[in-house]
Amino acid sequence: MSARIYVSVPHQMYLTHLSLTNFRSFARLDLDVPRRVVLLVGSNAQGKTSVLEAVYFLAAFTSFQTHVDRQLVNFVEAKKSLAVGRLVAEYTRGPASHRLEVRLILEPVGVNGTRLRKEALLDASSARWRRSSGTSTPSSSSRRWPGSSRAGPRNAAVT
Ligand SMILES: Nc1ncnc2c1ncn2[C@@H]1O[C@H](COP(=O)(O)OP(=O)(O)OP(=O)(O)O)[C@@H](O)[C@H]1O
Ligand SMILES: [Mg+2]
Repeated sequence: MSARIYVSVPHQMYLTHLSLTNFRSFARLDLDVPRRVVLLVGSNAQGKTSVLEAVYFLAAFTSFQTHVDRQLVNFVEAKKSLAVGRLVAEYTRGPASHRLEVRLILEPVGVNGTRLRKEALLDASSARWRRSSGTSTPSSSSRRWPGSSRAGPRNAAVT
């Protein structure tokens, strides 16, 4: 008698391109990511950690440096009445290619307040999922993404 055990190996994901707009110190960054070891080399405050933070944010919808997401929006952009930070990842998973876009939208609310709205679009899906809504003053922290978003709503917005 013989037995066979089949193990399902999930497809690996590879980031192929990263685009940042008004994220941290980057007004704009476009980076092709090769499928090999990548070294980020540069002087202090050139944005090495910010690149890693952007990749982390695209995967976890939160930062490893701050729980105040509005700090991720470029300071100069954030002075505008409507400011948008944008992170875009193009990646492959098995044979399929995907595009994940996250928008950090600082918009006015109330008299002098602003609120941060986070949107995520996967392959520009038109389906929409909204967790909650609310407002905050500039000094308060924004809400965190639900852990369940790891599996990824097709298109999500959290305010
Ligand atoms: N929201 C923001 N808008 C504009 N600039 C920002 C923002 N957040 C951080 N910075 C700037 O980004 C720079 C820090 O970038 P980062 O930490 O990614 O650099 P680094 O290359 O990792 O530096 P180090 O070698 O010191 O670790 C600092 O100059 C900081 O002032
Ligand atoms: Mg660093």
